[in-house]
Amino acid sequence: MPNVSMKINGKAVSGEVEGRTLLVDFLREGQRLTGTHVGCDTSQCGACVVLVDGRSVKSCTMLAVQAEGTDVTTIEGLANGDDLHPMQEAFRENHGLQCGFCTPGMIMSAVDLAKNNPDPSEDEIRDWLEGNICRCTGYHNIVKSIKAGAEAMRG
Ligand code: FES
Ligand code: FES
Repeated sequence: MPNVSMKINGKAVSGEVEGRTLLVDFLREGQRLTGTHVGCDTSQCGACVVLVDGRSVKSCTMLAVQAEGTDVTTIEGLANGDDLHPMQEAFRENHGLQCGFCTPGMIMSAVDLAKNNPDPSEDEIRDWLEGNICRCTGYHNIVKSIKAGAEAMRG
């Protein structure tokens, strides 16, 4: 079985995987990082989004071996100790979640958006979220959260 090595949330990790092991399974089962969710396994829902070398990626669409040598950030790696990341804080403040299932993927996508577009319009946020499905909130508070989170990241 191939061995993969990568950095996850700042820590060097390696492990044996099957060639067909998905990155999301390596994270959840291999590393016990269960904050990354699986909502569909068919690239539809975005619950599994993580950052790979700073870019948001649906981790159910990537093989673990394809992440060899990369720097992966999951929702567990966003906060700084007890201090939430500004985007996490914005979701909390603006009630950007209900059941929370979609939230890790939403937040990781939002962080990528805000890094590349520090002042996104509501339309740009809604376009960006095309690949992230929420079954609870109706998206209004998610959009509000991302606007506030981007503003906080700018500040
Ligand atoms: Fe990856 Fe749904 S689990 S997109
Ligand atoms: Fe429940 Fe989004 S908060 S799916």
